[in-house]
Amino acid sequence: MNIDMLLIELSKETPIPLYEQIYNQIRQDIIHGKLQVGMKLPSKRKLGEFLNVSQTTIEQAYGQLSAEGFILSRPRKGFFVQAIDELAYVQPKKEASKPVPIKKETIDIDFSPGHIDTTNFPFTQWRKFAKETIDESSNHLLLLGDPHGDIELRQEIAQYLYHSRGVDCTPEQIIIGSGTEQLMPLVIRILGEDASFAIEDPGYPLTHHVFSHNNRQAIPIPVDNEGMDVDALQQVDASIAYVTPSHQFPTGTVLSAARRIALLNWASMEEHRFIIEDDYDSEFRYTGRPIPALYGMDNGENVIYISTFSKSLMPSLRIAYMVLPKVLLRRYQDAFIHYVSTVPRLDQHILARFMRDGQFSRHLNRMRTIYKRKLQTLIDTLTPYAPVVTYYGEETGMHITITVQTNDNEECLAEKALSAGIRIYGLNTYRTKKETGTPSFLIGFGGLTDEEIITGIQKLMAAWGISKEPDS
Ligand SMILES: Cc1ncc(COP(=O)(O)O)c(C=O)c1O
Repeated sequence: MNIDMLLIELSKETPIPLYEQIYNQIRQDIIHGKLQVGMKLPSKRKLGEFLNVSQTTIEQAYGQLSAEGFILSRPRKGFFVQAIDELAYVQPKKEASKPVPIKKETIDIDFSPGHIDTTNFPFTQWRKFAKETIDESSNHLLLLGDPHGDIELRQEIAQYLYHSRGVDCTPEQIIIGSGTEQLMPLVIRILGEDASFAIEDPGYPLTHHVFSHNNRQAIPIPVDNEGMDVDALQQVDASIAYVTPSHQFPTGTVLSAARRIALLNWASMEEHRFIIEDDYDSEFRYTGRPIPALYGMDNGENVIYISTFSKSLMPSLRIAYMVLPKVLLRRYQDAFIHYVSTVPRLDQHILARFMRDGQFSRHLNRMRTIYKRKLQTLIDTLTPYAPVVTYYGEETGMHITITVQTNDNEECLAEKALSAGIRIYGLNTYRTKKETGTPSFLIGFGGLTDEEIITGIQKLMAAWGISKEPDS
């Protein structure tokens, strides 16, 4: 190559060493393709004379470029530009990294069912247990722990489940994992390739995806105001039923007592049948007594119980757990003997201390009151729009479902809401097939303030052209 091709400008004014300035400029020329693959660079002596710097300076620059793989030194032949796609890491050109404009919707109020209240988290207590845990005295926690989760946390969970959910299990039956979504594929694996899964329709979208991504059949079973239709389940060839009995996601209904018995009977009829009970938000029940888990009703024979701290504490913690019937526990141990726990031990121990100290129950009690107040605000704001707008599923959790009597369809209503800066979640999004019946929406209230709930609903009704009933 002609040495003039190297337009290297050196400055003695900057603190950047000369060799680094040379290295930087050659590197940029290679990245931007000005120096093409295979080109031979001038010898150290020639370039040194040309730039009026010492050969050692050029040697340092070439040394750095070859150490990073931009050029290759061939003995007695010289230095050659390397193929760009062989480079391990290339800084993108500044101009090339201009952000692609993304169409941004302005959402003022998001009624997401997944948002929790973040303003009342007990940071002081959590920090106390974090400080106690992240300490030299816990240096053993830097090593790998029990693959099923550390026993300290599993003991706390077992106690909590016994007292609060009527689930009588040993800590050994509990497996800790980083979220329901991480535990489900493990369950699928231990249930074997012949298992076919019945899912709630409408249902939790994760279940649709996780079964199909794992090449398992997911058979939709309709949900009505008593939960999953067990008669319909009996008609299909499914061996596993995934249900959310305490608070059906998304409709919010509670699986009726008759259906509970029918479902447990269905499971006990054949050896390979199991129920996956996803008890994701039952901590927050506002009316009547807590509904015990299905698991407690069948002595843990045919029910795989799954729950999470995503609603009760925070979704970002990524800690969930499952309780396996003894027969599946053996299969689990065989299948995953070489796997380590997916949850950091420090986090497990912070949570275990938080629970042992009684802070978890205190937090739940406090949050139940806060969520109950928000729910009441939501109901009070919605009531004057009845009977055009009605709601259900208000006994548990952080969302309710509303139905709207109008000529518009669900999509059209959701779009009208969006253009008013309000995001709501159409029930069709959670169905395997869209329905054209009365439009229904999930209204999550956990992450909103009372003021946002009131303004959000008022704006929504205005966007839909629905006014309050005159006598309200
Ligand atoms: C039905 C259901 N199950 C489980 C979860 C929690 O999942 P994870 O533990 O992966 O956060 C949610 C959260 O929204 C849910 O709606």
